[in-house]
Amino acid sequence: MEQFLKEIILEAGQMTLDFRARLDKLAVRRKMDKDLVSEADVAVEDFLVSRIQKRYPDHAIFGEESGQHTGGQYRWIIDPIDGTTSFVHGQPYYSISIALEQAQNTILAAVNAPALGELYTARLGHGAFVNGSPIHVSPRSRLSDSVMATGFACIRRHSGFTNLPIFNRMTPILRDVRRYGSAAVDLCYTACGRLEGFWEMDLKIYDVAAGALILHEAGGRCTDFSGGSARLYNEVLGTNGHIHTEAMGVIAGVIEGIDKKNKAP
Ligand code: IPD
Ligand code: CA
Ligand code: CA
Repeated sequence: MEQFLKEIILEAGQMTLDFRARLDKLAVRRKMDKDLVSEADVAVEDFLVSRIQKRYPDHAIFGEESGQHTGGQYRWIIDPIDGTTSFVHGQPYYSISIALEQAQNTILAAVNAPALGELYTARLGHGAFVNGSPIHVSPRSRLSDSVMATGFACIRRHSGFTNLPIFNRMTPILRDVRRYGSAAVDLCYTACGRLEGFWEMDLKIYDVAAGALILHEAGGRCTDFSGGSARLYNEVLGTNGHIHTEAMGVIAGVIEGIDKKNKAP
């Protein structure tokens, strides 16, 4: 299945590059006021779903744009373009993200960033790779030495509590912050040591599942803001492992402060 996954995600990547060559003609619509979907997202997901259904007709599929396709114990989780805003604006930080679950455990993952020429892959228990070369998280162990990425899905989804207070608290502590525009790329950049971590709220399984396995297999951690998995995807903290506790402490301090303020008479 790993070879099949690499084959279809590379072909999907080439599809995005073909669309990218004629962005001026790309049909784009709003799912929500800041949430875009393009004809490329739909075409890529249709391609991936059809290839998977042809090869593995009894597998389930969950795609961001086409939803649930029922099946057995295996489930393919697809984000056809993670970072549609980046893609539509001609920026390279976008990816195709595919995870394969067996009995709800992610066993195989691939994140293809075609405009960056990078294919990240991982198989549970067998390490993480970029273009076939092994990758590992960075050794940096202090937030003050770290660069982290984040995103603001919470603003797009008009969530009550947004990431902005955490961003305002975390940024002066960190060496620097990045906002690339693809959660999957952010997790892979953490896996290969270009970032020490990534945090975001209000994500979905298809944004995170593949990048989380790649990060885990590269020696990192991906949890909710409390270090568990109960609130995963609504809360995502992916790090090199070394800064995880310190990062959780900063986030907890912000949330406690807001809770106290809200409860004050
Ligand atoms: C988005 C990207 C972005 C993140 C958003 C996601 P999409 O995925 O991952 O970096 O900040 O929250 O929704 O919508 O382009 O597939
Ligand atoms: Ca996404
Ligand atoms: Ca998407």
